[in-house]
Amino acid sequence: MSEAFGTTGVTPQRAGQYHDMVQEAAAHPEAFWLQQARGLTWHKQPTHASRSDFSGDVTVEWFADGRLNASENCLDRHLSTQPDKPALIWEGQEDGQREVLTYQQLHARVCRLANLMRRLGVKKGECVAIHLPMVAEGVIAMLACARIGAIHVVLFGGFSAEGLAERLTDSGAVLVLTANSARRGEKRIPSKVTIDDAIVRCGQSSCVKHVLVVPVTDDVVSMQSGRDLDYAEAVSQEAPECPAESMSALDPLFLLYTSGSTGRPKGLVHSTGGYMVWAAFTHATVFDHKPTDVFWCTADISWITGHTYVVYGPLANGGTIMVYEGLPSWPQPGRWWDVIDRNGVTTFYTSPTVVRAAMREDEAVVRSRSLKSLRILGTVGEPISPEAWHWFHDEVGKGQCAVVDTWWQTETGGVMITAAANAITPRPGAASLPLPGVAATLLDAQGVEVTGAGEGLLCMAQSWPGQAMTIWQDHARYRQTYFTTCPNHYFTGDGARREADGYYWITGRVDDVVNVSGHRIGTAEIEDAIATDHEVVESAAVGIPHDLKGQGLVVFVVPREAGVFHPSAVNSAVSKGVGRYAVPEKIYVVRDLPKTRSGKIVRRLLRKIAAHDLEGLGDLSTLADPDIVSELIAAVKEQQ
Ligand code: PRX
Repeated sequence: MSEAFGTTGVTPQRAGQYHDMVQEAAAHPEAFWLQQARGLTWHKQPTHASRSDFSGDVTVEWFADGRLNASENCLDRHLSTQPDKPALIWEGQEDGQREVLTYQQLHARVCRLANLMRRLGVKKGECVAIHLPMVAEGVIAMLACARIGAIHVVLFGGFSAEGLAERLTDSGAVLVLTANSARRGEKRIPSKVTIDDAIVRCGQSSCVKHVLVVPVTDDVVSMQSGRDLDYAEAVSQEAPECPAESMSALDPLFLLYTSGSTGRPKGLVHSTGGYMVWAAFTHATVFDHKPTDVFWCTADISWITGHTYVVYGPLANGGTIMVYEGLPSWPQPGRWWDVIDRNGVTTFYTSPTVVRAAMREDEAVVRSRSLKSLRILGTVGEPISPEAWHWFHDEVGKGQCAVVDTWWQTETGGVMITAAANAITPRPGAASLPLPGVAATLLDAQGVEVTGAGEGLLCMAQSWPGQAMTIWQDHARYRQTYFTTCPNHYFTGDGARREADGYYWITGRVDDVVNVSGHRIGTAEIEDAIATDHEVVESAAVGIPHDLKGQGLVVFVVPREAGVFHPSAVNSAVSKGVGRYAVPEKIYVVRDLPKTRSGKIVRRLLRKIAAHDLEGLGDLSTLADPDIVSELIAAVKEQQ
């Protein structure tokens, strides 16, 4: 690599092209996005780009008169040029488990499942739930849904039966794909048993007609006759060709549930046209995609990152994707480095939590691996500290790879702020610069735009193609959640600082969402689950800084009867209501919570007290009971 450009790999040519795109997207957005859309295959080309409007009732509409199919864009259009190119490389967590599917083979597998789903009566516009670990069938299922115009709803394997039931009911899913069980290191996750339980919990409101069970392990599970089918057996009867449904650009491609500061998880609805344009554009631009790349995004497919950068972005661009089933350091440290070396991974996109965990291992672990196939490294989901950034760059990238920190959200569909690889010089720790067409801005608490260098609420002044269109069956909530804090703007829920030259530094959520290892957890969900424990009158969940996880979850609980309280009951309530991944780090038992006179819990105080950050607690005179603060401080100290 040339000395002149340091180790970031920024070249004048790519930097220039990128600069031109930013200018063009700002000056002529309609023409720019119609041009980007031409990179996809359409049944009917759109004649206009955005008809979006953040005022009034809020409309997010991209390429409205275009028609296309997402699975054709990920598969069929590559068949004439590269049928034998590996589309998907899968490795299981056990030694020797590996499968390579060419575009031709992936296409056939997707078509068989699409035919099966049609035969089972799944119709265009109906929801199909996908509850699978990281096996090829997860990707196949998403594309098969897209093929027949069914809306996929991918559900995290860590959700409790209760959490799954809630999402099955809300989406009205008619079919569920699950595994008999899943492997997670030494553990087995009883996927089918949990789905059975979830469907029972849905009761009368269940719309599930069939459950397709993928045999991931050799575990035998009970099958309900007439409802449950063995996936392998059922797809083997189907033809490997299946005509793709022609979809409007505005038809939903998928719903994805995410947590907010209030209420139950919301199903964000992503469009077919705008989302696909955004997935393909951002994948190519942010990761400087090359046809020879082997792209490994380590996210689970149940997260938006898995949707956009395991599946839709790289496949739309004809890339090769790596799907690995297992944990980073199981059965031994350095497992993921071996996956990179064995498969010639060029682009490795992961989370800062993974980087921090790897930093703690003996340095011989990473140094004993070649990792020379790597070209680009990326992180997402939480801030990466400059220290972790440098370690990633120096030890994993061996000083030779571009490192991209990417800021975005479930709602944004794809990357929004980053230092695009080889185009923008990164600043370790900064999310960096908005992508072409991203109208990022900062507003102060009064809704006034911050100009130049400053800090404020991170908002978008205009729509972009990847923006979620609405919340499933609740447009009023969509408008209320994202467009009322800062009128006429999309409000991200994050705060940010901007330097004079436009680089953004994300300062974190300004609402009551906690980010544990990149998992977005709504404190209201935790508190609702705890409310089912009758020993507890009230609780408050807050996030505190955590060395490994970024943030840790802490709860304060007020027992109904002093001295009568079982922490295990709180943990099991959270485990049951939300999932084991959301069980708090620490529970503090307190007499009361700090509240304003109007009864609102002052979480800012709880966050500071839990983090032992007792400087500047602020004006306590507005509290209904100011004495509670010293009691809380003492309780935290005592119960450490
Ligand atoms: O607070 C921001 C944080 O994660 C939130 C979005 O979470 P989710 O919808 O689950 O999507 C995660 C993957 C796209 C954001 O509101 N976040 C995401 N990326 C970053 C980040 N915080 C700092 N730096 C990032 N790169």
